Amino acid sequence: MISLERYPREITLRDGARLTLRPMVPEDADRLWDFFRRIPPEDKMFFREDVSRKEVVERWAEHLDYDSVLPILALEGDRVVGDATLHRNKTGWKQRVGTVRVQIAPDFRKRGLGMSMIREMRHLGEKAALHYLLAEAIEEQQPAIRAFEKMGFVHAVVYRNFVNDQKGALHNLVVLLYHMTYSEEEMSF
Ligand SMILES: CC(C)(COP(=O)(O)OP(=O)(O)OC[C@H]1O[C@@H](n2cnc3c(N)ncnc32)[C@H](O)[C@@H]1OP(=O)(O)O)[C@@H](O)C(=O)NCCC(=O)NCCS
Repeated sequence: MISLERYPREITLRDGARLTLRPMVPEDADRLWDFFRRIPPEDKMFFREDVSRKEVVERWAEHLDYDSVLPILALEGDRVVGDATLHRNKTGWKQRVGTVRVQIAPDFRKRGLGMSMIREMRHLGEKAALHYLLAEAIEEQQPAIRAFEKMGFVHAVVYRNFVNDQKGALHNLVVLLYHMTYSEEEMSF
């Protein structure tokens, strides 16, 4: 069980916008669905589930289990503007590996929020005593790859023609890894 005492947490973006970070609660279903409705179709192509269906988001909200998936929302007032999730395995061989996913509202991109949320995931990974954080992106998602690299993730492997989009076209999958035991200084290369 990760301690969530630090939430709600206020952050200020470099342009002065003030946001609140906190774990998702069941009452967030409508807000989160509204957030996904504004995500461009090209970003939704690689989602595992169809988030344009409200029932998908409602199901997540009803079955929240922070030990499996911990969603941290960034809110501006009442509006969700960012969503980062830390996926963990309670048992088995990948207990020490967490998977991170990040999604930022289009009008909040390139303002430093993505990096703040990845930093938040690193903090939670440390609290959960994980050894590695893993992130996956399609090779075309260069903003995502750059954001993760800036936060100390390194390219682990590229799987060629590995994943398909909703139209069936194949894409290269980039797997990025962050080693939790690295100190802050070692990561600032
Ligand atoms: C990837 C994503 C999370 C980045 O969030 P963001 O808030 O825009 O990122 P930041 O403003 O913190 O930028 C972090 C760094 O990423 C890079 N970056 C961000 N957007 C970029 C762009 N459009 N082009 C090139 N580099 C970009 C920059 O190096 C930037 O650092 P800088 O601002 O100091 O130059 C956001 O673009 C997004 O939600 N994309 C769609 C979903 C996605 O691809 N998720 C990743 C898979 S899990």
